[in-house]
Amino acid sequence: MMKKTILITGGAGFIGSHVVRRFLKNYQQYDIVNLDMLTYAGNLENLRDIEDSPNYKFIRGDITDTLFIEKLFDQHPFDAVIHLAAESHVDRSISGPMPFITTNITGTVNLLEAARKRWQDNPGSGPFHHISTDEVYGSLGEEGLFTEESAYDPRSPYSASKASSDHMVRAWFHTWNMPVVISNCSNNYGPNQFPEKLIPLVINNIKAGQPLPVYGKGENIRDWLYVEDHAAAIDMIFHSGKKGETYNVGGNNQWRNIDLVRQLCGIMDRKLGRPAGTSEKLVCFVKDRAGHDQRYAIDNTKISSRLGWKPSVSFEQGLERTVDWYLANEKWISGVIGGNYKSYYKSQYLDR
Ligand code: NAD
Ligand code: DAU
Repeated sequence: MMKKTILITGGAGFIGSHVVRRFLKNYQQYDIVNLDMLTYAGNLENLRDIEDSPNYKFIRGDITDTLFIEKLFDQHPFDAVIHLAAESHVDRSISGPMPFITTNITGTVNLLEAARKRWQDNPGSGPFHHISTDEVYGSLGEEGLFTEESAYDPRSPYSASKASSDHMVRAWFHTWNMPVVISNCSNNYGPNQFPEKLIPLVINNIKAGQPLPVYGKGENIRDWLYVEDHAAAIDMIFHSGKKGETYNVGGNNQWRNIDLVRQLCGIMDRKLGRPAGTSEKLVCFVKDRAGHDQRYAIDNTKISSRLGWKPSVSFEQGLERTVDWYLANEKWISGVIGGNYKSYYKSQYLDR
């Protein structure tokens, strides 16, 4: 495998930290530069174990800053980009859409432009791997799965900003023949996820004895994938994906929110040595998310048949690992929320 200098954006976040660790572990011939602004969701604790690797460098910086990105590409001989940096939480995009527009759209274009200028005389460069979401395809009813041919139909400011960034990436491919690949993945879960997302929120609320807010009737459906399986898919698409193409990535693992919350309640009762049924009493149905997409589910046929990827961690194993990780990493949680979980949760969520 060739030596390469790879820019990974958003590497201090949830998925990015697993991607950085996997690439450092599997590809010692690569120099990895992790560019991250360290917003509330970025945390260098996620990478403590690998921060001294000789072929790793962290740079704090903002992808929306055009001049900074241009300079960064002048200073480093990037051969390839894996772009994960984004504002990622749907509820935050509803209460304040603007950072989603700047980071997810303008930030992506800044990176595309800088890479285009650097790579135009260097045909061996790339890929520019853009990490995106299944939410760009909109919402499913009772039947069907999202394929790579599904029409774009984003409905939240978050998904609309990601859809826009996907269109930009394709525009750079068609207009300038940029060597791009795009992956659109379903809901990830696992260690290092900020406790605003459903699974870590439920685990931490049970631990803190706080209500478990289930939006609407809890009947919305998500397709869950263990984060290390997503990192493995990114590795495969980055190395073997066909330029200009899109790969959907999903867990074949659809759950209604209420069933997932109940499943977590059972696991937590067992782990905490509480009588069965204790945690479920915390479930509380709250006002629905505005424009709440009913169901997401991915058809994995393309990535499995063309690249040979399939999920390797069962939901049972993945949830056990995730719960164990949050129970063992109290300090990580107080670090990311800047203090006591109970009071953080009350101020952030109970007034929804
Ligand atoms: P995250 O919110 O945990 O991490 C995002 C990272 O980006 C953080 O480290 C943050 O500091 C950084 N960042 C944000 N704005 C930045 C800026 N302006 N400049 C530089 N860095 C900035 O997100 P995640 O869940 O790890 O998602 C990573 C990517 O994967 C996103 O593009 C997201 O859309 C996509 N994705 C996420 C999921 C999921 O279930 N979490 C599923 C499919 C796709
Ligand atoms: O599908 C991929 C997407 O999955 C990613 O692109 C996003 O970055 C990621 O945040 C995730 O989006 P969701 O909105 O699906 O994830 P979230 O964990 O916020 O919510 C999952 C489901 O649970 C959703 O139907 C809303 C519901 N929910 C969420 C929270 C936080 C609740 O019922 N209660 C809650 O407190």
